[in-house]
Amino acid sequence: MGVSLEQARSDRPAPEIAPVPTAGRVKFEIRPATNPTPEKERTARLVDPGFGRIFTDHMAMVRYNHAEGWHGARVESRANFPLDPATAVLHYAQEIFEGLKAYKRDDGGMNLFRPDANARRFHNSAERMAMAPLPEPVFIEAVEQLVRIDRAWMPGGDGSLYLRPFMIASEVFLGVKPSAEYIFAVIASPVGSYFKGGPAPVSIWVSENYTRAAIGGTGAVKCGGNYAASLRAQAEAIDHGCDQVVFLDAVERRYVEELGGMNVFFVFDDGSLLTPPLGTILPGITRDSIIALAKDSGARVREEAYTIDQWRADAASGKLKEAFACGTAAVISPIGKVCSASGDFLIGGGAAGPVAMGLRKKLVDIQYGRAADPHNWIKKVL
Ligand SMILES: Cc1ncc(COP(=O)(O)O)c(C=O)c1O
Repeated sequence: MGVSLEQARSDRPAPEIAPVPTAGRVKFEIRPATNPTPEKERTARLVDPGFGRIFTDHMAMVRYNHAEGWHGARVESRANFPLDPATAVLHYAQEIFEGLKAYKRDDGGMNLFRPDANARRFHNSAERMAMAPLPEPVFIEAVEQLVRIDRAWMPGGDGSLYLRPFMIASEVFLGVKPSAEYIFAVIASPVGSYFKGGPAPVSIWVSENYTRAAIGGTGAVKCGGNYAASLRAQAEAIDHGCDQVVFLDAVERRYVEELGGMNVFFVFDDGSLLTPPLGTILPGITRDSIIALAKDSGARVREEAYTIDQWRADAASGKLKEAFACGTAAVISPIGKVCSASGDFLIGGGAAGPVAMGLRKKLVDIQYGRAADPHNWIKKVL
């Protein structure tokens, strides 16, 4: 016999709507792994790390409950989470995450790129998902501590250490309400160059059956549910021989929004750039950085709605010179071909364009500390 929603709700105390965040920093206890990966094995794994498949020896973790606030901060051996089968995140998907990278400088030190922006977005994601907001300094401290302790896992060349902060609802209960307990953790994964031999243009599939985000929904925050809901559309893209899916708006189904995991830019014959406005899309940190770098170089950048029909028409007339996707993982991916149920079209003959490649180099050079950092985006960790 099932339990009604009313019953499930009624035997629980009323939710505390606004959990009290712990102000400022918490002190991390550092417990180095007693049995870290032997150097020879680590070196072998770093030869061709791929993306998101291998992980470092440690993780950072902080817990939250209403009585203690954020507490128990530590860096320790990466290990399984023992979760009760009734843990809230497993049922109601109250979960958020972030993605950022640490880059090795030529002097052997390490740079984080705009970790404050990830911390702020994480805070915003927590608010939208009715989760306990993690103080931004705690987010940054956790990331820095993990990079320090696992610095030996930094790959050489143009690899980087991908950092994955995340937070899950860890209260054990059934019933739809915000969890009263949370686990925040950071794990790290050495990653190779996203594109071997330089960025190759990607083909994208216009999703006409599925949308990603509605006004008032969760499109502007980084919660796992957004990605779960995008998988069917991404599978459809693969079925049509494309690399990625691009979503249209959920109301009129004609305005270009973003890819499954990247924002999008258009470059026109007058040298100007256009990117869809914020609202239902994820406010990408790469997107924001590209807007700043393009403006620095004197280009006009518009944050304006752009329809799929206009995209097709501008590609045909030659007014559109380039289109590219951007995000932390791949930095910039030129878009060579757009496919949809109503036909395919090429952009710039299907090749990577000079504006995308120029912006990519500018950004990567700042990230690796090879160029000046006029916007103070770099936080040196070591
Ligand atoms: C849906 C979506 N859009 C855009 C981005 C790009 O964001 P960022 O540049 O902060 O990595 C990501 C990647 O996190 C994403 O998942």
